[in-house]
Amino acid sequence: MSAAELRGSEAALCPQVPELQKTTVRIQQPERVMGLIRAIKEQGGSKLQVISDFDMTLSRFGCNGRRCPTSHNILDNSHVISEDGKKKLKDLLHHYYPIEIDPNRTLEEKRPLMVEWWTQAHDLLSQQKIQKGDIAQIVRESDVMLRDGFNELFDQLHKYNVPMFIFSAGVGDILEEIIRQANVFYPNVNVVSNYMDFDDNGVLKCFKSPLIHTYNKNNSVLQGTAYFQQLSTRTSIILLGDSMGDLTMADGVPSVENILKIGFLNDKVEEQRGNYLDAYDIVLESDETLDVVNGILRYILMET
Ligand code: TMP
Ligand code: MG
Repeated sequence: MSAAELRGSEAALCPQVPELQKTTVRIQQPERVMGLIRAIKEQGGSKLQVISDFDMTLSRFGCNGRRCPTSHNILDNSHVISEDGKKKLKDLLHHYYPIEIDPNRTLEEKRPLMVEWWTQAHDLLSQQKIQKGDIAQIVRESDVMLRDGFNELFDQLHKYNVPMFIFSAGVGDILEEIIRQANVFYPNVNVVSNYMDFDDNGVLKCFKSPLIHTYNKNNSVLQGTAYFQQLSTRTSIILLGDSMGDLTMADGVPSVENILKIGFLNDKVEEQRGNYLDAYDIVLESDETLDVVNGILRYILMET
């Protein structure tokens, strides 16, 4: 079946979600996906929760051919980091990022290397005397962009009281400031991430534990957060991620009935396509928007 035919049949299976016809959409098992979407709709909004990664999932990967920053990059590129610090942080990125996304290495191989990257980056950032009071300006002056449609996503979830859990290996203080400045940090949004630890003078001294990196986003860091227990009645999950490490983000939820995994495939699309199609129910290739997610949510939450 050609890609166009496949998209045609997907649309026929679920005409209520026309966004699934976008050329960026790839689905390995269309019937299964449509069954999941219908089952989640049947269960209703009161049973639903959204679990999402932040960097390169809620935020954009690129714009006009240029890369957008991750929450770490926002700090790295800011005026508060010395030239020497910037160079060292960039060297780390150039060394470890290709490892992070290498489809030919196992997660077991990658895990200790990610701990090395995050530990070194956090140590370097902690030497820079970053002030808590500077965070808002650093974010305001950055090139960060949320994906198109972020307003509708956050507004819909807020309107229907659907909890949104952001599980991020980025920097919590930065990403919270991004969503605050975008005016979408509603009470239904909860964040688990790497948070800065400031001294009595408001100067960064270290990062709080546990360290969250790309490949330990699972129960191991969620133990002790009461959050997941509270949500045990929310048995339908929409999971949003951009990395193979994001697939385990819902592992701590006690009673999952239906989980729809939507993956943004941003980089090295050809090499990673096979792995992504096997792992994610819906793969969005080089799609800088939240159109598909919003279309599915509109259908699920629509009162009939
Ligand atoms: P996440 O999107 O899975 O939460 O992961 C955060 C991203 O941050 C991950 O793709 C790697 C990236 N990162 C940086 O850009 N700079 C850094 O210094 C570190 C430690 C991570
Ligand atoms: Mg990410």
